[in-house]
Amino acid sequence: MGAIQRFVSGDQASYERRFEQVIGNSPALESVLDQVERVAPTSSTVLILGETGTGKELIAHAIHNLSARCGRPFVRLNCAAIPLDLLESELFGHEKGAFTGAIAQKIGRFELADKGTLFLDEVGDIPPALQPKLLRVLQEQEFERLGSTRTHQVDVRLVAATNRNLTEMANRGEFRSDLYYRLNVFPITLPPLRERREDIPALVAHFVEIYGRRMSRQIEHIAPGTMAALVSYPWPGNIRELQNLIERAVILSDDGVLPNPLPSVATLDTSTSPAATTLKGSERILILNTLESVGWVIGGPKGAAAKLDLKRTTLIHKMQKLGISRSSHQRSPGTTRSGSQEQLSQLQ
Ligand SMILES: Nc1ncnc2c1ncn2[C@@H]1O[C@H](COP(=O)(O)OP(=O)(O)OP(=O)(O)O)[C@@H](O)[C@H]1O
Ligand SMILES: [Mg+2]
Repeated sequence: MGAIQRFVSGDQASYERRFEQVIGNSPALESVLDQVERVAPTSSTVLILGETGTGKELIAHAIHNLSARCGRPFVRLNCAAIPLDLLESELFGHEKGAFTGAIAQKIGRFELADKGTLFLDEVGDIPPALQPKLLRVLQEQEFERLGSTRTHQVDVRLVAATNRNLTEMANRGEFRSDLYYRLNVFPITLPPLRERREDIPALVAHFVEIYGRRMSRQIEHIAPGTMAALVSYPWPGNIRELQNLIERAVILSDDGVLPNPLPSVATLDTSTSPAATTLKGSERILILNTLESVGWVIGGPKGAAAKLDLKRTTLIHKMQKLGISRSSHQRSPGTTRSGSQEQLSQLQ
């Protein structure tokens, strides 16, 4: 049972709605959602860490939506996307005439987020010159607009995110350690998709549903081989990459069948499976994936031997040599882990 259901008391419908976009129930994701549920109702600063495309922004929204601030603004600022000289005024605002080009007064994001949540994305990219000012507003909840001496008080909950290693940056002196400690009150690390492959089938179904509806294309079938390939791919771009690939596959689909959007060499998970870096290991994975994709049928025109362009007896011989048998590799009934994942964990 998922973390969401476990913690439901009272208003179940609205509770689930606030998490509606977060798909998956792997133990790794559930542990993240447990942390989200714990920290959301407080006003503590949250630091969301994780590789690109792991859902940091989605989780930042979930924290806001589950907090008492949810009726108040959620203001986002990407620190990496704003030129250095504009970032300060984006954060704190400026008075008319504060600098050349300041033709009108501007309200900064901290003021806009008053009583709400400020999401500082790519916080690792905040330039050293601005770091003391950010530390001050986090500690004192007060700041001045550029060109003004008047101090403004705000009540802002900060959620920050980065895919950079802030600990190392602080150790190397590239990020102020006092600011790092202030941001690191409640860190939440999002696991990469390759560490929670159990969630891939549900994510695939979710994005197939979304893009199918958006493009008025009904997808009725995903071949087991396609799903096995999607589950074993290493996903360096995580959920965003999966989402984009499914969008492409839906565009390319015919007759209600989802085509395999992965290039054929990519379906072998060479980055995470040491066994696949040897010829024997690659052969083993290829044979296992093929057998799985055809339901372990060896002979006949639709069998694994034909797909691999091997004689039936040759395939059987190779399987014996590599110790591949259906009983040791097929998934047991009732398990939610995919066969491919079992293959991988057995190979690692
Ligand atoms: N668990 C999930 N369920 C459904 N969709 C998800 C999930 N996690 C991420 N997504 C989707 O994947 C995409 C990427 O997520 P998001 O933008 O939150 O990632 P990110 O960690 O902020 O990436 P980056 O570091 O590149 O900014 C979004 O469209 C988001 O809705
Ligand atoms: Mg992001």
